[in-house]
Amino acid sequence: MYRKSTLSIIRVFPKLILFILILVSCENTNSTITKTIDSNAESIGKIQFEQKCIACHGFENKTEEEMIAPPMYAVKRRYMKASKNKDEFINLMSNWVKNPQQEKVLMRDAAIEKGVMPHLNYDEKDIMQIVNYLYETEMTKPEWFDAHQQSHQK
Ligand code: HEC
Repeated sequence: MYRKSTLSIIRVFPKLILFILILVSCENTNSTITKTIDSNAESIGKIQFEQKCIACHGFENKTEEEMIAPPMYAVKRRYMKASKNKDEFINLMSNWVKNPQQEKVLMRDAAIEKGVMPHLNYDEKDIMQIVNYLYETEMTKPEWFDAHQQSHQK
């Protein structure tokens, strides 16, 4: 009896190892696939942001006076302050972009100075990708930003 069961364990053992190996390798491919999907979604968000928001919110090749909207660095900072977590950030910002209204304005000085952001007819899906990208990505701070902040606090 003893012998028989030891024998059968020995016989099954290589199969068991093979099974575990297959499991482990499947998990690896799965996580690579998820990562690829994530980074694809993020780069789509980046492209959409560049196409749909940079024209007004970008500061490259612009002086502070030439800006027609606050730089995204400032917008993100304000929205991070107003939200406790990613979900709140996504809700707050997508809600704004879908329907910007004076009474919802968080960046009051900017709205007074530049006028409230116009309503732009974007796809819900594009907005969600952009907003997700903005949450996940560190925005570049314009060189003039700190001086601008100080002049506003005076
Ligand atoms: C035609 C110019 C223009 C475009 C394009 C534009 N914005 Fe704006 N946006 C503005 C201006 C001007 C303000 C500042 C006034 C204000 O707060 O409404 C602003 C403010 C904002 C704010 C802050 C609103 C608040 O609470 O005060 C957010 C968030 C925002 N934009 C997100 C976006 C995103 C995301 C995109 C791209 C999908 C985008 N904007 C495209 C002009 C634009």
